[in-house]
Amino acid sequence: MLNAEFRTILVFNHPTIQPSNLSTVQLFTFIFAPSTTPTIRTIPTIRTIPTIKTIPTMKTVKTPKKLTNILCIGAGYVGGPTMAMIAKKCPDRKVTVVDINAERIAAWQSDALPFYEPGLKEVVAETLGRNLFFSTDIPAAIAEADVVFVAVNTPTKTFGQGAGRAADLQYWEKTAHEIRECATHDLIVVEKSTLPVRTATAMKRVLESGGAHRFEVLSNPEFLAEGTAIADLEKPDRVLVGSDETPTGAAAREAVVDIYAEWVPRDRILTTNVWSSELSKLAANAFLAQRISSVNALTELCERTGADVDEVARAIGRDSRIGPKFLRAGVGFGGSCFKKDILNLVYLCEQRGLTEAAAYWNSVVEMNEHQETRFVAEMVHAMFNTVAGKRIAILGYAFKADTSDTRETPAKVVADLLAEERAQLVVCDPYALPNARKELARHGDLVSFEEDPYTAVEGADAVAVLTDWRQFPELDWARIFARMRKPAFVFDGRNCLDRRELFELGFHVRAIGKAPLSHFA
Ligand code: UDX
Ligand code: UDX
Repeated sequence: MLNAEFRTILVFNHPTIQPSNLSTVQLFTFIFAPSTTPTIRTIPTIRTIPTIKTIPTMKTVKTPKKLTNILCIGAGYVGGPTMAMIAKKCPDRKVTVVDINAERIAAWQSDALPFYEPGLKEVVAETLGRNLFFSTDIPAAIAEADVVFVAVNTPTKTFGQGAGRAADLQYWEKTAHEIRECATHDLIVVEKSTLPVRTATAMKRVLESGGAHRFEVLSNPEFLAEGTAIADLEKPDRVLVGSDETPTGAAAREAVVDIYAEWVPRDRILTTNVWSSELSKLAANAFLAQRISSVNALTELCERTGADVDEVARAIGRDSRIGPKFLRAGVGFGGSCFKKDILNLVYLCEQRGLTEAAAYWNSVVEMNEHQETRFVAEMVHAMFNTVAGKRIAILGYAFKADTSDTRETPAKVVADLLAEERAQLVVCDPYALPNARKELARHGDLVSFEEDPYTAVEGADAVAVLTDWRQFPELDWARIFARMRKPAFVFDGRNCLDRRELFELGFHVRAIGKAPLSHFA
């Protein structure tokens, strides 16, 4: 169809879009302005169409009405819990999770899951063998899947171009090759892993290079936080599904939306184009981390002026435009996502010459690193400028409470720096000791590990609280004081203890963003 300004081609080679239902569907027009790149526009309502042209070479993916065979590649912190929840909420869909790590797959099928997450054990117990299956046979699982979620890791690159900032996409690309080679029909591939914006294009190119089948690549980032993963999955603030804005992209997106709609209210399921979805994941983590760095950037000023950072956070958080969440000052943020995703964002900005934007986001990470190192500097300074040979109990090693995960935990940075100062460390954590043992092994005899906090503090000069485990404020601190060498110091890196009570017990207390409480004149 031609008109004076542009040429419009209407495409009807899609199962759900037929001339008979044209009055109700949205039509997609490909508008070619002379000598410019094609753009795609949606026309909300068109009642009549004069001409219909089907382009025979148009590549389409046949989306089944219902995605009954769901596959996830990557049985980690993201893939495992997410698929367990889908299996729980969609009993008539089969959910298979595969991974190259046989040990991990075995653990998912045992009583000892690969990691600790409250409520996860119950969901897996309910669904395992009913409609949730774990396997290492990746080709067989791809062959029978209707949709493949990809949740393999996308760590920060440690080599070559973009080392230390860009995402390492080698596992993603390897997985894409594998999907292409093992697919037995057209497939929807869903990015679950956090990826740089525009990865979907690269993936589609890999998937459609030389294979017999067509692929629709969607983005459906995960927003769950560890420790609350099950609650986050059960009642998400939102589910985000991005797709190409083509009829087949929209159909694939609807099919994936239908999975979540089995338990998530429709108005909480957002749909966007694929690039917005990819960028939203990076942006959400960058914003959350930026709030923490912002409040942490006030802590030194509080310590030097007598302001209390928790009171300041409470005061500003009451402003409904700011809100109270993610304003807890501390020794710094950890976890597998924040640093990695911000550095990825920084790299994406730098690649496009956006120097100021890159520097802005990079400062969020720099502030976090400063907070970790200054915590140790304050400890050393408070303990008469030397900790060599002193016994320091580290309470909490996980990057946050309610998880055994220790990726990017500030506790590791603190422990490494204290060990360099030749302090004698005793690390205590209810779930993270296996990881701590591996990660701190290089310090040899300088670090020991203890499950019982009262044993950990025996003869200690100082206690440093680095994870906000609920049990720490509930400990018998008078008993702890009695067991320690004097003068006894407490460094509260999570502001979770009652510092005045500790001070009255005889401790010298330092908390983040609060004036020090000292018995020395
Ligand atoms: C990971 C990324 O860290 C995160 O950025 C992304 O958003 C989702 O995936 P997580 O689930 O926490 O998050 O990672 P991890 O626990 O390491 O799980 C990834 C799994 O993928 C591992 O079990 C790994 O064995 C598996 N994997 C990796 C494959 O099955 N195939 C591969 O080629 C590579
Ligand atoms: C984060 C995002 O919250 C989640 O949406 C995304 O999918 C993955 O990354 P996670 O890393 O599991 O989740 O935990 P989160 O609760 O965000 O905490 C991250 C770090 O920030 C922890 O070290 C935590 O202790 C710290 N934190 C959090 C603060 O220091 N202050 C706060 O106010 C909140």
